[in-house]
Amino acid sequence: MTRVLLITGGASGIGAETARRAASRGYSIALNYRTRDTEAKKLVADVEALGRGAGAKAIAIKADMAREDDIVRMFEETTQALGPVTHLLNSAGISRQMRVAEYDAAALATLFATNVTGLMLCCREAAKLMSTKHGGKGGAIVNISSMASTLGGRSGSSAYAATKGAVDSFTRGFAREVASEGIRVNSLRPGMVLTEMTEKRLENAAFRNHIEASIPMGRVGKAGEIADAALWLLSDEAAFITGSMLDAAGGGYNI
Ligand SMILES: NC(=O)c1ccc[n+]([C@@H]2O[C@H](COP(=O)([O-])OP(=O)(O)OC[C@H]3O[C@@H](n4cnc5c(N)ncnc54)[C@H](OP(=O)(O)O)[C@@H]3O)[C@@H](O)[C@H]2O)c1
Repeated sequence: MTRVLLITGGASGIGAETARRAASRGYSIALNYRTRDTEAKKLVADVEALGRGAGAKAIAIKADMAREDDIVRMFEETTQALGPVTHLLNSAGISRQMRVAEYDAAALATLFATNVTGLMLCCREAAKLMSTKHGGKGGAIVNISSMASTLGGRSGSSAYAATKGAVDSFTRGFAREVASEGIRVNSLRPGMVLTEMTEKRLENAAFRNHIEASIPMGRVGKAGEIADAALWLLSDEAAFITGSMLDAAGGGYNI
């Protein structure tokens, strides 16, 4: 069976690193992106070169994960170009630093539309293709959550943490719903990882020292370390694992 991996938010950070590593494992890859046309095009070329031996194909699809029509189109285009999605990594996400007293309804709506509703709608589309109940052959889904969901996030991150808490709850419920239909669903909770999402803040040496002192392993993570965990959860090596939250966080953190 052709394994078709759709990665949302795939043109940078954890999503991009997963695409590179998945290519040499023989996945055909649909790489979703929102604004990064140049990076997406380059990554598709890299992924095709890396996957050449394994016969992997790659395409890039521009679509906004905060919009239902874009999500539906993205799944249709993937099916047309590569075949039905068998594996899904929901990596698209945004973070927003704001204290509760500074909450703004529009900012909260964007945060939840991207991190929660969009992810849930991607799971809906994937379930329709993967479920044995709908004629599919099963599949595996990994939702990128965050360690923020466990402790409510670091200072100023309560809204972001709430979106990731929603991802974890949804993952558990969805996993139970489709467990007998051949679909595994897990969430992966990175701790602080050096990507574009965090690099500006981590350039500040005092901030980085403070963060690293709060992590038992004493360092932030690398995107590749999260990608490897995601690929393991997606693989048959995790065949009996569903509805789980896997922490990839150097031992967690103290606030
Ligand atoms: N880095 C960390 O410390 C950390 C820790 C825990 C969890 N996470 C989670 O890991 C995931 C990946 O983040 P990352 O660290 O790899 O950072 P990143 O490089 O900023 O990746 C996030 C990607 O999501 C895309 N994206 C955002 N909104 C989108 C939308 N509406 N539609 C489609 N794509 C969208 C971004 O593209 P555009 O820039 O074009 O919008 C970007 O390519 C996120 O869900 C994040 O919450 C990260």
